[in-house]
Amino acid sequence: MDRQEAIDFLLDHYENPRNQGEIEHPDVNLNGGNPGCADVITMQARFGEDGKVQEIAWDGTGCTISRAAASYVTEMVQGMSAEEIENVTFEDLMDQLGREIVMTRPTCATLALGTLKKGVHEFDMHQRADKADYSHHQ
Ligand code: FES
Ligand code: FES
Repeated sequence: MDRQEAIDFLLDHYENPRNQGEIEHPDVNLNGGNPGCADVITMQARFGEDGKVQEIAWDGTGCTISRAAASYVTEMVQGMSAEEIENVTFEDLMDQLGREIVMTRPTCATLALGTLKKGVHEFDMHQRADKADYSHHQ
């Protein structure tokens, strides 16, 4: 993707945000912010019985890059398991969003993904703990 394509891709997500809003009964529901700006991006996700993302949403305030990245992240992780999301890297995100653009505002570009990964990690840990607890009592 060249620079212009990357800019167009980013602006499209900014102007037509995907999965913006709220979902019911989220397994993951976490606010993320960056030092240095007052923006807060909320990431929500619910996993299905098969362990894969069933519904996902983002909402909040933020600059163009953080909002566009949040929108893209919700598309990028469709159908992924918690573990797969935890393994998504900022590199993966940059490959799509355009490295040069992202590197001008890295904390903004990675806010949504970082927040989602943190929320998913917490969810995953709780689930594992619940399972461990359960087998213990049998
Ligand atoms: Fe706040 Fe980018 S300036 S998220
Ligand atoms: Fe806003 Fe980086 S957090 S400019």
